[in-house]
Amino acid sequence: MFKIGITSLIKVLFFIFNVRTSITLKSNVLFIVIDDLRHLTGQDVRLPNLEKMAANSVNFKNTFAQQALCAPSRNSLLTGRRPDALRLYDFYSYWRDTVGNFTTIPQYFKENGYETFSVGKVFHPGKSSNFTDDYPYSWSHYPYHPPTDKFKDSAVCWDTRVKKLQSNLICPVRVKDQPGKSLPDLQTLDYAVKVLRERNNSKPYFLAVGFHKPHIPLKFPQKYLEKVPISRVNPPRYPNIPKRLPVVAWHPWADVRHRDDIASLNISFPFGTIPKKWTLKIRQSYFAAARYIDDLVGALLSYVNFNNTVVVLTSDHGWSLGENGLWAKYSNFDVALRVPLLFIAPGLSPKTVSKPVELVDIFPSLVDLCGLPGNIPKCNTVEDKLTLCFDGKSLLPVMKSKLQQNQYIYDFAISQYPRPSVYPRSNSDKPRLKDIKIMGYSIRTKRYRYTQWISFNNTLFTRDWNKTYGLELYDHLIDPDESNDLCFEPKYNAIKNHLSSLLRSNVK
Ligand SMILES: *[C@@H]1O[C@H](CO)[C@@H](O)[C@H](O)[C@H]1NC(C)=O
Ligand SMILES: *[C@@H]1O[C@H](CO)[C@@H](O)[C@H](O)[C@H]1NC(C)=O
Ligand SMILES: *[C@@H]1O[C@H](CO)[C@@H](O)[C@H](O)[C@H]1NC(C)=O
Ligand SMILES: *[C@@H]1O[C@H](CO)[C@@H](O)[C@H](O)[C@H]1NC(C)=O
Ligand SMILES: *[C@@H]1O[C@H](CO)[C@@H](O)[C@H](O)[C@H]1NC(C)=O
Ligand SMILES: *[C@@H]1O[C@H](CO)[C@@H](O)[C@H](O)[C@H]1NC(C)=O
Ligand SMILES: *[C@@H]1O[C@H](CO)[C@@H](O)[C@H](O)[C@H]1NC(C)=O
Repeated sequence: MFKIGITSLIKVLFFIFNVRTSITLKSNVLFIVIDDLRHLTGQDVRLPNLEKMAANSVNFKNTFAQQALCAPSRNSLLTGRRPDALRLYDFYSYWRDTVGNFTTIPQYFKENGYETFSVGKVFHPGKSSNFTDDYPYSWSHYPYHPPTDKFKDSAVCWDTRVKKLQSNLICPVRVKDQPGKSLPDLQTLDYAVKVLRERNNSKPYFLAVGFHKPHIPLKFPQKYLEKVPISRVNPPRYPNIPKRLPVVAWHPWADVRHRDDIASLNISFPFGTIPKKWTLKIRQSYFAAARYIDDLVGALLSYVNFNNTVVVLTSDHGWSLGENGLWAKYSNFDVALRVPLLFIAPGLSPKTVSKPVELVDIFPSLVDLCGLPGNIPKCNTVEDKLTLCFDGKSLLPVMKSKLQQNQYIYDFAISQYPRPSVYPRSNSDKPRLKDIKIMGYSIRTKRYRYTQWISFNNTLFTRDWNKTYGLELYDHLIDPDESNDLCFEPKYNAIKNHLSSLLRSNVK
């Protein structure tokens, strides 16, 4: 009798203590962002660590970036606002100095008692983060960049065809022969592990780790080539320019053409495509670079205590690997916009979610997952100057829900890409703001992608939906490769009109 009483008392005390600690102790956050990693499946390449992580995650398998370019995508993700709100479509403006003093994800965590760290490429470096990765606003410590970053574009790739070191696209290397005897992502991993082991434990941490591969050049330890034998690499199903593709949707992937190995193929500008043998070689190296990063993610996760840490993994945008004749990012195609998005958090059960979601949803989701002060309003207009409002929505209800996924209102994702002209030019991939004349707005539902390329005024930041330069409609049920534009098929008129008005009402 007495014994049972004591045991119960201990249980009650233990319960109270547990409840109290779960309220007061905030979870740490590990935020992993991989550069240019498109949504890959096991048919492309096995990524054992990401697959294992996905099996333990809420896995949003239809996640789309807001713009397929590093700086606009990262600033959008990190502020929770669309490129239109930041007026950033290139690399050359810093929102705090041009549009508004908007709060970032790490800044909000810092203001709520977290110690925040940036390791590797988190913000896009340079003007778009004021040459400081938004320090001190976002970070408790000065952001870390690996010393070997300075060799990232150097001529360090041994080319057996010309027997010399070149700045190639395809660049498997022996790490010990590299300048600095390391690679940026290896140094990023070491530093991130050091932070996890040696940091001051008095505060929860928000650690952002940005891996730079599989961004080009495709430079990685050469052993990863053996893990992706070329005999098992498949070509894209549709390697040519689709007949009905509006010309404004094409981009000439100049950065790929200009690498030494690709330049030597003399591919004609702007519509030449890469020969099949090289298509396979580039795909192999992209997959090998992804496999390299997969190992680094696995190593990093081995230092994480999942009992008190929220882990998020994503990428800034995807990458075309020869689909429809296209390479790199710079477009509104699924391959350029679709990214992995995984959340692991204490108490969250693993599942796969197929409804379309957006990178702007990450900020509100993390606020909810970590129990930071909520009630943050939705931004009213793209011009909203509130320092803290969201263009996206919290995914926490979806993560926790046992309901079928079709019950949610926001079942679409919106993205955009600018162009200087209809006909592809040397600056069509990355037009500077002063050259932008056209904006392609794209809406993706579970089944369709609809894109409208319209006139855009780059000084007033206004759009004219009456001036259209190209329309695209793809039905993913029958055309997952987006190779067959259905815009002018009469039987799709109703769908097209519906998507067009949904898009317009959400772009404003
Ligand atoms: C912008 O916000 C930061 C952080 O709240 C604050 O320290 C700074 O003074 C603000 N700057 C302006 C110009 O309002
Ligand atoms: C950005 O950097 C410039 C030059 O160092 C500085 O004058 C400006 O105040 C910075 N902006 C903010 C918001 O800190
Ligand atoms: C950890 O942080 C606390 C509070 O900021 C400080 O008092 C303490 O000296 C720090 N410890 C170390 C080892 O830096
Ligand atoms: C590319 O052009 C150069 C210069 O005209 C020529 O020497 C080379 O053989 C060409 N290469 C291919 C693969 O056609
Ligand atoms: C995490 O929690 C589990 C179950 O409560 C426990 O067995 C394990 O030791 C904990 N791990 C760490 C690293 O705290
Ligand atoms: C944008 O609008 C301004 C003001 O109406 C006009 O002067 C300018 O020419 C427009 N720019 C473009 C590219 O149409
Ligand atoms: C676009 O066309 C509609 C209907 O044809 C018209 O009412 C509207 O004023 C036009 N908008 C612009 C910006 O020209």
